[in-house]
Amino acid sequence: MQKIDYSIIVILAISLLFSCKNEPITKENKSTKAEKEIVKSKEPHRPTFHFTPPEKWMNDPNGMVYYEDEYHLFYQFYPDSTVWGPMHWGHAISSDMVTWEHLSIALYPDELGYIFSGSAVIDWKNTSGFGKDGEPPMIAIFTHHEPEGAKKGTKTFQYQSIAYSNDKGRTWTKYAGNPVIPNPGIKDFRDPKVIWDDDSDQWVMVFAAWDHVKFYGSPNLKDWTHLSDFGKEWGTHAGVWECPDLFPLIVKGKGEKKWVLLQSLNPGGPNGGSGTQYFIGDFDGKNFIIDGEFAENFKQDTTVWLDYGRDNYAGVTWSDIPQSDGRKLFIGWMSNWDYAQIVPTESWRSAMTVARNLVLKRTNLGLMLFSEPVKELAGLRKSTEVIDASKAPDGFSVSLAADKKVVGEVNLKFSIPKGAKTKITLELSNTKNEKYQIGYNAATNEFFSDRRAAGKIAFSDKFADKIHTAPRFSENPIIELQIFLDVASAELFADKGWTVMTDIFFPNEDFNQLELIADGEIELYKSKVHWY
Ligand code: FRU
Repeated sequence: MQKIDYSIIVILAISLLFSCKNEPITKENKSTKAEKEIVKSKEPHRPTFHFTPPEKWMNDPNGMVYYEDEYHLFYQFYPDSTVWGPMHWGHAISSDMVTWEHLSIALYPDELGYIFSGSAVIDWKNTSGFGKDGEPPMIAIFTHHEPEGAKKGTKTFQYQSIAYSNDKGRTWTKYAGNPVIPNPGIKDFRDPKVIWDDDSDQWVMVFAAWDHVKFYGSPNLKDWTHLSDFGKEWGTHAGVWECPDLFPLIVKGKGEKKWVLLQSLNPGGPNGGSGTQYFIGDFDGKNFIIDGEFAENFKQDTTVWLDYGRDNYAGVTWSDIPQSDGRKLFIGWMSNWDYAQIVPTESWRSAMTVARNLVLKRTNLGLMLFSEPVKELAGLRKSTEVIDASKAPDGFSVSLAADKKVVGEVNLKFSIPKGAKTKITLELSNTKNEKYQIGYNAATNEFFSDRRAAGKIAFSDKFADKIHTAPRFSENPIIELQIFLDVASAELFADKGWTVMTDIFFPNEDFNQLELIADGEIELYKSKVHWY
């Protein structure tokens, strides 16, 4: 009988294990989906519940549209490198905006250029004529960016184009009449977002043109007429305007319809680099007119930010969410052009934020936009711990986790007596003594996020140059914080999403300790940690 040499089997198994680990995930790899998932879960900094591309470079979310029970997420994708390059639209679908299935690349660069950011809609009435067999087409509206013209320094290398799909976004045909909006001589001329406006009975497109936005109208998505411009005199112009979004919202509990204009710009964000400001007003089918009270409260050059962290950029909302759902769903790119291309991840770069529902509320400061994490995220909760509610005259320090990967959601509710200068901090740390802190400081009435000691920071001197701060708007003595923690990010929703902060970080070892610290007088009400 032949003798089996087990040591050879062990060596073979070990070398196989290591070869899998080190092998880049390429299209040629024969590994199964399950094997790829195992490799992914071992990659340092790969988020556990945030969307990431399977590999390589990703930036802005694009073409978000809901159709036949699928949330579509397209995204700026360069499949050949982990830095920005010739842009494609990557594609994924989800039934809950939390878990995603990757699909094939949707749009490839062509003779008109790279495929830059844009949107998608369902053309229910088949106004474009691209429908088939009685089914409405899905239409993508995007910017073509012609790289040669850009290199030569011409001004006309960006223009708006369309493509259509008759199979739920799986395959696409570009319109033969592209571009649908040629460039009149404006260097930055991009990122079209389209909606159907019932009141004016037309498709309305908004896109960015350097220091303002342009509105266009169309009966059929192919023929467009310039309606108006907005923005030269409003908001901040510390950077180039990009990726706008225009949509109506009913003011919560008031039945009143108002229009919101989201406007990303880079640089010039609230804590440096990329950021997204917003405006509230009315749209009459031609012009966006800023709301008088909003204008009065925030003046021309005072900016209101959708998110005060450094890592929520180029976000826009989903199209065609059914009326029965009624939400205005948003997702952003969880990075910042200041350092996105050099963050310390190896096989891929960037993640998206969690999906959020945008809500318009009338407040003591007039109309303001709130971001609420989508309720579907609650499906991630595996176990819940109640934090001991206590009156603490001298503060406290409570350990919420001693040896556990810190991935989950912390819901805090507290009040700080008037005049007290208490700082309440949620601190994530690891055995390497690295720590990330997020919380509220009553002395300044600000929220803060501090990643200066949170691990790898040396890759960019802009990454951890300061503590990030955000104003508190609410005057309610009870403060509520909802904080989503993944292995490489924190998202703070304060006062039910009135102030939001999203920041990424890169500890050298996953954070496995979580502590809640208050350094002075505070009353903590029923608070919870939900572990994912
Ligand atoms: C925003 C942006 C867009 C552009 C895209 C290119 O991050 O600069 O303006 O369409 O990225 O990838």
